Amino acid sequence: MKKTFFLGLSLIAVLCFAGISASFGNDEKLCVPMGVILLSAPGQAEQKNAPVNFHHSKHFMYECRKCHHKWEGNTENLSCGTSNCHDLSSNPRAEGKKVTPDTAYRYFKNAYHNQCIGCHKANKEKNAKLESSKKVLKANLQNPGPTGCVECHPRQK
Ligand code: HEC
Ligand code: HEC
Ligand code: HEC
Repeated sequence: MKKTFFLGLSLIAVLCFAGISASFGNDEKLCVPMGVILLSAPGQAEQKNAPVNFHHSKHFMYECRKCHHKWEGNTENLSCGTSNCHDLSSNPRAEGKKVTPDTAYRYFKNAYHNQCIGCHKANKEKNAKLESSKKVLKANLQNPGPTGCVECHPRQK
């Protein structure tokens, strides 16, 4: 699973922070990918759409924990597909299983779509409000991030 998730990592620059907290130890480092991370379906999951080029550092105006919501600052593992996190490769609902909010987001696609599209959509709504209030010129609105399928999943595989 790790291999497919990190396909893109070897190609990009990383920035390492040494010992950011006492519990991290003296010589341990956290290496943060600074460019594009290729996000693809984990394990045996079917990849119907092209995998997503996620520009990590273009998101650094947000707090790390906005996305790495289980990160306490003293652990190295920040991957979404960690066991018991967003590790389901198929939709539990489609398999007729009872779905709670917790198990719904263990399915990787629900987790990504909820978080990624959720924020871009909320930004779009904020922009629309600002625009109609005429407080901000359209040209000065912040890029909200993409919400259309092909903007994240380019057509060709
Ligand atoms: C908008 C969401 C988002 C924000 C904000 C964000 N990240 Fe990430 N980060 C991700 C995603 C998605 C991955 C890829 C995880 C995966 O492959 O499972 C990732 C990967 C990483 C990795 C590599 C994970 C690993 O286990 O090798 C590190 C380290 C990391 N982020 C650190 C940070 C730090 C530090 C910040 C704050 C400066 C930050 N991230 C902000 C979404 C985000
Ligand atoms: C908390 C809000 C937030 C979250 C969560 C978030 N994004 Fe974004 N995203 C943005 C904003 C804002 C931009 C515009 C950034 C810019 O123009 O520099 C953006 C831009 C993008 C872009 C276009 C980048 C480019 O090169 O122009 C892509 C693709 C993208 N996001 C994918 C994702 C994916 C995939 C995730 C989930 C892993 C995600 N985003 C999570 C806010 C968010
Ligand atoms: C903001 C970015 C973003 C947008 C917009 C987006 N997705 Fe995704 N989607 C992802 C990410 C990230 C994943 C998990 C990585 C992967 O599998 O490519 C994913 C996974 C999927 C998957 C499961 C994996 C696969 O390819 O079979 C499907 C199906 C999917 N998306 C369909 C869609 C459709 C249809 C739309 C438009 C309604 C859409 N997505 C819009 C980011 C996005």
